[in-house]
Amino acid sequence: MPSPGMTRRTTRVPPAADPRLAVSLGPLRLRNPVMLASGTCGYGEEFAEFTPPGVLGAIVVKTVTRQPRDGNRPPRVCETASGMLNSIGLENGGIDYFCETLLPALRTYPTIRIVNIAGATTDDYVALAKRLDGEKGVDAIELNISCPNVAHGLDFATSPPQTTELVRAVRRATERPILVKLSPNVTDIVAVAKAALEGGADVLSLINTLQGMAIDWRRRAPRLGGITGGLSGPAIKPVALRMVWQVARAFPKAPIVGIGGIASADDALEFLVAGATAVQVGTASFLDPAAGRKVVEGLTKVVDDEKWESIESVRGTLKSSEAGPPA
Ligand SMILES: Cc1cc2nc3c(=O)[nH]c(=O)nc-3n(C[C@H](O)[C@H](O)[C@H](O)COP(=O)(O)O)c2cc1C
Repeated sequence: MPSPGMTRRTTRVPPAADPRLAVSLGPLRLRNPVMLASGTCGYGEEFAEFTPPGVLGAIVVKTVTRQPRDGNRPPRVCETASGMLNSIGLENGGIDYFCETLLPALRTYPTIRIVNIAGATTDDYVALAKRLDGEKGVDAIELNISCPNVAHGLDFATSPPQTTELVRAVRRATERPILVKLSPNVTDIVAVAKAALEGGADVLSLINTLQGMAIDWRRRAPRLGGITGGLSGPAIKPVALRMVWQVARAFPKAPIVGIGGIASADDALEFLVAGATAVQVGTASFLDPAAGRKVVEGLTKVVDDEKWESIESVRGTLKSSEAGPPA
């Protein structure tokens, strides 16, 4: 087992398409700041035709758990105003199936491969991290401590002490870079971000979905089999931007991945200006499986138009001092 503080493996950089787009996200060097978000791109295979993994900064695969999970009762998704609700419930084949059946193809992707994991207990996360630590082709691990659709899904992300304890335990179990994915379903996102950083998180990913609900009043029934679900898409972008800005302002050096309603280069740039170093494209890929690629292309155009030497120069450039936070 690696000891805390040991030198971590640095990741291999895939050939950079445009060096002006390359970003350093903690210990990870990405060819550009655009990733596909966990649970919205499977394991990349169906997307390759529209968004080839080689054009992305990274791909984050669907959450993997220790045991296989069937997921929640259908219907599992429904459309809402400017977004969607999902109650998938972390359906997946479990870590053995992932390593034996899905990882071999993932290893061939010419991009950074981030494996997202979830569990109900610290032991679950530690076991998953240890297992992945021994596997080639896993460049980093994202801890999903923020799934609103499973029992215990929000236990960690809603408790700063539990977040620290969990991240610290996983930190001891793996030398891979650790991203911690935070939940918007909290009053004080800065407190949870601080807890994750204190535990040894290399990167903070925010946000996961917001707990919500949709009702068919004629049937007097919820629209989702799981009754409640996670809200995503353009509807949550203002919430995500606010949280990224708050965390970046509190921890200016913390590497942050902005997530929530990103569908265009303009959306991505709003997150970078708020303080994110990279972004993840989620729900937008359901509308257009080429969304990830188009965000990269859009960023290239903006870098050209604005004559930036590096997209990294945009990070955290929000001019907020005049307005100031609410008293
Ligand atoms: C259908 C669906 C499934 C998701 N599954 C996962 C998952 O397995 N693990 C995870 O960490 N996040 C999951 N998410 C959350 C997304 O990764 C992302 O954090 C969220 O949707 C906000 O981004 P968006 O508005 O761009 O979709 C899922 C989201 C959707 C819509």
